[in-house]
Amino acid sequence: MSILVLNGPNLSRLGKREPQVYGYQTLDDINRGLMESFPEIRFEFFQSEDEGALLEKLFHVEDKGGCSGVLLNAGALTHYSIALRDAISGVTIPVVEIHLSNIFAREEFRRTSVISEVCIGVISGFGANSYHLGVRALLGIAT
Ligand code: DQA
Repeated sequence: MSILVLNGPNLSRLGKREPQVYGYQTLDDINRGLMESFPEIRFEFFQSEDEGALLEKLFHVEDKGGCSGVLLNAGALTHYSIALRDAISGVTIPVVEIHLSNIFAREEFRRTSVISEVCIGVISGFGANSYHLGVRALLGIAT
């Protein structure tokens, strides 16, 4: 089984960025934790500050085939990117929406996600463990 872990803007700053909200683990720590917890899964990791690069990565894995699912932490794009929403809705790969923080318990503007409707589910608020729970969700549905 192969999973793409896709992270959007500002997630490269984990560990330094508002640790009281997002924790002290870096993105590399989180990625390493996933590989250690799920040695049987082939992970591909991709992070970009750029919306277009995220869309292109999603299209690339869709067209290449062989990817069972995507864990997507879209960062702030979650709240406004119709382009990202359209991209997810236009691919067949299951996408799980992931957030470290509980977006529903934060500022008003974060309580809206424009991508949730086209994702298979949302995991929000469990810190780095949100990614692990996302893998478990994909294990349950992916082929
Ligand atoms: C986030 C929540 C978003 O609102 C924010 O813009 C992020 C991170 C999270 O993982 O909690 O960059 O997606």
